[in-house]
Amino acid sequence: ALVYLNGEFLPLAQAKVSVLDRGFLFGDGVYEVIPVYGGHFFRLSLHLQRLEHSLQAIHLENPLSPSQWREVLQRLVARNEGLDQAVYLQVTRGPAARDHAFPQPVEPTVFAMSNPLKPLPTEWRLKGVAAVTREDIRWKYCHIKSVALLANILLRQEAIEAGAQEALLLRDEQLTEGAASNVFIVRGGVLATPPKGPFLLSGITRDLILELAGEGGIPCRERVITAWDLTQADELWLTSSTREIVPVTRLDGIEVGSGKPGPLWGQMDILYQEYKA
Ligand code: PDD
Repeated sequence: ALVYLNGEFLPLAQAKVSVLDRGFLFGDGVYEVIPVYGGHFFRLSLHLQRLEHSLQAIHLENPLSPSQWREVLQRLVARNEGLDQAVYLQVTRGPAARDHAFPQPVEPTVFAMSNPLKPLPTEWRLKGVAAVTREDIRWKYCHIKSVALLANILLRQEAIEAGAQEALLLRDEQLTEGAASNVFIVRGGVLATPPKGPFLLSGITRDLILELAGEGGIPCRERVITAWDLTQADELWLTSSTREIVPVTRLDGIEVGSGKPGPLWGQMDILYQEYKA
């Protein structure tokens, strides 16, 4: 498979980045993950908009225009035509002598690749997954889709080692998001998710679910969700580009609601699958 690196399409094995790259030394970069279904990018302009916001937040100029991005990504995807794929792209502040201060001038490293998007395990859809709650130990700029994901991976790994699929993160007893997902809760037929802000990533999937709920007449709120609210949930869902909507049926070892994927999840999943098609 070919990948894109700094203006060239190369075999993966030939795509090399300097050990002085600030992405490698400092985690100084941002990224996006964009699903492609049957050759069609899923909400590409929203992903490119979020990329722009992430770059602005770290004071890095976008190296490509939206149409240049489209062209690059289109070419990567064309190689695996028809298959569902996940495009990964990242921009770092590039190679420079190691110094915390920004280099001058900056030569950003621009990388993109496309990989097959595996369908979710059937088991997850039939039975749901387990999650655990953890303290949100991350910094206060979680709205930036930064490649510096050390806290996220430590938290996800803790979840895995506890026999769960995701860690739901609490900052001052309030839910922010998952280690790599946004979170929805259902209580008494009403859907809710935490409001946007610097403590969570503004998920493209999250926003779509709010839209679909609006169109489908499903009552929905963006509101503070506490640790206690989580214990009272009829349903809990995780959302992300690569996992769509996953029902959580066990939280910290206790059944969520009926202990099975809930009816509102079933309804939303249908709306989501229709939207995708
Ligand atoms: N992660 N919150 C965090 C911390 C995430 O890493 C992600 C996605 C989301 C969901 O955002 P979206 O719906 O736009 O994918 C929320 C991607 C998939 C990843 O890091 O692989």
